[in-house]
Amino acid sequence: MSISQIGRTIGESVTLRMNERAAVMRAKGDPVIHLGGGEPKSRAPLDAVVAAANLLNSGEVRYTPAAGTPAMKAAIIRYTKDFYFHRVTPEQVIASSGAKQAIMVALQAILNPQDEVIFPAPYWVSYPDMVKLCGAIPVPAPAEDGTFYPRLSDITQRVGSYTRAVIINSPNNPSGVMYAADFIREVVEFCEKEDLYLIMDDIYHRLIFDGKKPVNCYEYAQSLGDKSKLIVVNGVSKQYAMTGFRIGWAVANPELIRVMSNIQGHQTSGPPGVLQKAAVAAINGVQSSVENLRLTLRNNRDILLERLKSFDGVHVTPPDGTFYCFADFNHYDGDSARLSEFLLDKVQVVTVPGVEFGMDGYLRLSFCGAVKDITEGIERMKWALDPNAPNELYIGDRKLVRDWT
Ligand SMILES: Cc1ncc(COP(=O)(O)O)c(C=O)c1O
Repeated sequence: MSISQIGRTIGESVTLRMNERAAVMRAKGDPVIHLGGGEPKSRAPLDAVVAAANLLNSGEVRYTPAAGTPAMKAAIIRYTKDFYFHRVTPEQVIASSGAKQAIMVALQAILNPQDEVIFPAPYWVSYPDMVKLCGAIPVPAPAEDGTFYPRLSDITQRVGSYTRAVIINSPNNPSGVMYAADFIREVVEFCEKEDLYLIMDDIYHRLIFDGKKPVNCYEYAQSLGDKSKLIVVNGVSKQYAMTGFRIGWAVANPELIRVMSNIQGHQTSGPPGVLQKAAVAAINGVQSSVENLRLTLRNNRDILLERLKSFDGVHVTPPDGTFYCFADFNHYDGDSARLSEFLLDKVQVVTVPGVEFGMDGYLRLSFCGAVKDITEGIERMKWALDPNAPNELYIGDRKLVRDWT
C-alpha cells in the first residue's frame, strides 16, 4: 500500500497502546489502576454545562466562524487581560478545537518543509509528531545538566539556519516543573533578537502550587505589535476539567491569526458552537472550581511524593504544577517502555513510559485521579519492584504471587 512520506513518519503511540491494553484488561474484570491519565476527574463547571445544554435545547446548532464566535473571542480577550494584563483585539485571537489544534494550525501557518522547531526535553508527546505533520523537523533540547530546568544555552546551541520556532511549555507536561522567570525572559528576548517564533504553551498556568505565580511572557516582550512572533496558547481542558469539550485558543499577531483561521476553516471549520458556549460560560462564570481543583491536585501531589519516598532507588523532582510527576526509575530498568509494560502485566498499574517524552528510564505518574488509586497504585508498584517485598500481594480477594526476581 502506498502511504505518504509524512504518514510514515508518525509513529504508534505507546501511551495509546497501554491505554488500549488497560481497557481490555478492565473489560475482563482486572482491577486496573490508571496512573497514566491526562485529565482531571472533577466535573465541568455548572455554568458551562448549563450554557451548552441551553443551546442544545434550542435545537439551533450551526456552523460558527472559522476563528470562533464573537462571544468566544471576547472571552479570550478578557482572559488575556485578566491573566496576562495584556489587551488584544478580536483579530489577534483564534479559538480552536483544543489547544492541540491551536498549536497545530500555528505550526502549519509558520513552518516550511525542513524547518526546525526546538523545545526543551522532556516534552509533551505531541510536539514532535505535530512538527513532523508539517514536514518539518523536531529538535528536542534536553538540559545539559540533566535536570528538568533548561538553560538558554540548551536552546541556543541547537539553533541553526533552519530554526523557525521554539516551543516552551511551563508548567511542563510531563515533569510538572515550572521554568524560572529569568529563563522565560531570556527565551523571549532571544527569539525576538533572532526573529524566531515563540509558542508559549501555557495550558497548565493556573494549576500551580506552593504560592508560585505563573510567568507572564508578555512582560518581557519588546514588540507586541503586528510583527510580534509570540504565540500564546491556552484552553479550558485542564483548568476547568473540560478535556472533552475540546476548546483551546491562541493569541498572536493579526496576520498570523488570519492565516491560522484560513487553515482551520478548511480543516475543521470553526469549533462546535455548543462547546464554545460552554467554554465562554466557564471563562466568564464562577471560578471556584479552578481553585478547588488546584487544591485537590496539590494534596494529591503531596501524597504521591510521600509514597514515592518509600522506594529506594527512585529520584523525584517535585512538581510545581500540573498533575504529573516524572520520576526517575533507571535504578529498576533503563527501558521505560519495558518497565511500564511490566507494571501493567504484573500489578495492573498504568504508567506512561518516559521515552514518549524524550527521556528513557523515567515514568510519568499522574496524580489527577483518586487518592485511593494513587496510594494503592504506588503500593503495587513497590511490591512489584522491591526484591525484599513479601512473595504475595492481595488485591481485594485476588492473590498475586511473585514469579520474577
Ligand atoms: C502540554 C500540553 N499542551 C496542550 C495540550 C492539549 O490540550 P487540549 O485538550 O486543549 O487540546 C495538552 C494535553 O494533554 C498538554 O499536556
